[in-house]
Amino acid sequence: MDRIRIVGGNELSGNIPISGAKNAALPLMIASLLTDGTLTLENVPHLADVEQLTRILGNHGVDYSVNGRRLRQSEAYSRTVNFTARNIVDTTAPYELVSKMRASFWVIGPLLARMGEARVSLPGGCAIGTRPVDLFIDGLQALGATIDVESGYVIAKAKNRLRGNRYVFPKVSVGATHVLMMAASLARGETVLENAAREPEIVNLADCLNAMGAKVSGAGTSTITIDGVDQLSGASVRVIPDRIETGTYAMAVAMTGGDVVLEGAEPDLLQSALDVIAQTGAEITPTNEGIRVRRNGAGIAPVDVTTAPFPGFPTDLQAQFMGLMTMAKGKSHITETIFENRFMHVQELARLGAHITLSGQTAIVDGVSKLKGAPVMATDLRASVSLVIAGLAAEGETLVNRVYHLDRGFERLEEKLSGCGAVIERISG
Ligand code: UD1
Repeated sequence: MDRIRIVGGNELSGNIPISGAKNAALPLMIASLLTDGTLTLENVPHLADVEQLTRILGNHGVDYSVNGRRLRQSEAYSRTVNFTARNIVDTTAPYELVSKMRASFWVIGPLLARMGEARVSLPGGCAIGTRPVDLFIDGLQALGATIDVESGYVIAKAKNRLRGNRYVFPKVSVGATHVLMMAASLARGETVLENAAREPEIVNLADCLNAMGAKVSGAGTSTITIDGVDQLSGASVRVIPDRIETGTYAMAVAMTGGDVVLEGAEPDLLQSALDVIAQTGAEITPTNEGIRVRRNGAGIAPVDVTTAPFPGFPTDLQAQFMGLMTMAKGKSHITETIFENRFMHVQELARLGAHITLSGQTAIVDGVSKLKGAPVMATDLRASVSLVIAGLAAEGETLVNRVYHLDRGFERLEEKLSGCGAVIERISG
């Protein structure tokens, strides 16, 4: 198993290109199931999760081809990929595939809407809480589907096409909003989704559906209206820049000090996180190329954060922010409201010398003046990158084990960081 070796202590300076967003690319790829035309997605990141979903879609009959590689870029960088679901050959998404990535459960929406049936295994994914699927089931039932859960599979049927309806999400869910938007696009009549997720990835998917001929309005607000159409066609859509990758590298610079331009990053996608990073003492400046992050001299100020659905502080940046706060000049409180059990990085950060105590869903971080490198274990995608950030600021050598978590969501992490002066390398085997 690969490991990442970091020798901490260097400031970061230079440019880091921001990749296409994993969490936007996945639902856009799944939307290709809605049409027999070709969906061309630009800026698709080269990540383990994208490859895994490509395999799952292939199982349903989706062909794909890659083009548009940019000059001087290796195949490991974001690229343009065409997905064509001319014929759906199988409406079952099996356990062996779905258990590896929770988002693959989302194929249930388009398969049901286009084929009138779907049999999808209950999902797996990161070990960060129970992550049920009740909202998907409720919402699809509201659109007229009949749903049974049998032997670990959700079996959804809609004999005479889904019907538009009003559905109020009892809880904000990104995935369930994606799925109901896709399903309602091919339903008969109008659907109104209330208390919908407002994440930028939802807007990216709505734009994609509209480019395919759907009638979706209100995405980005909590009420989304979808006027169902009989069929959708192919389209060409660009994946938005990854706001979590952007925030992660911004926090890395805030922690190590230095001066980095995050190329292609869009401030609007993560304003709440940028505001918090600025409060810690870093200087954040939007530029023509992206976002410039600088921190010189002064220490890191402690800041309290509570995670919340967009436009609040993202849960996907909570672990990284905790990494940053371990070296703040004072105490900070970090409260997680989206997922239970999303503090697995706490004990690993403690191995580097961090002082953190847990009280329910709040972590109290008492900043220390220095961290010391140590072997640590990556436990999930975002937790593992918090260890990388901390390792960059720690004295001496940090070895991050179980790097496959990082490969699910961060494109060329070690290359991007070493390009800015970090001592970081992958050790294979
Ligand atoms: C997506 C993101 C993930 C991010 C999360 C929250 C992708 C691929 N993943 O995950 O990186 O951390 O949004 O921003 O985009 N819930 C239920 N019942 C359901 C569905 C969800 O109770 O049927 C709960 C979850 O357990 C959680 C909360 O709702 O407590 C929010 O989850 P949700 O927004 O659905 O997360 P994902 O879409 O899985």
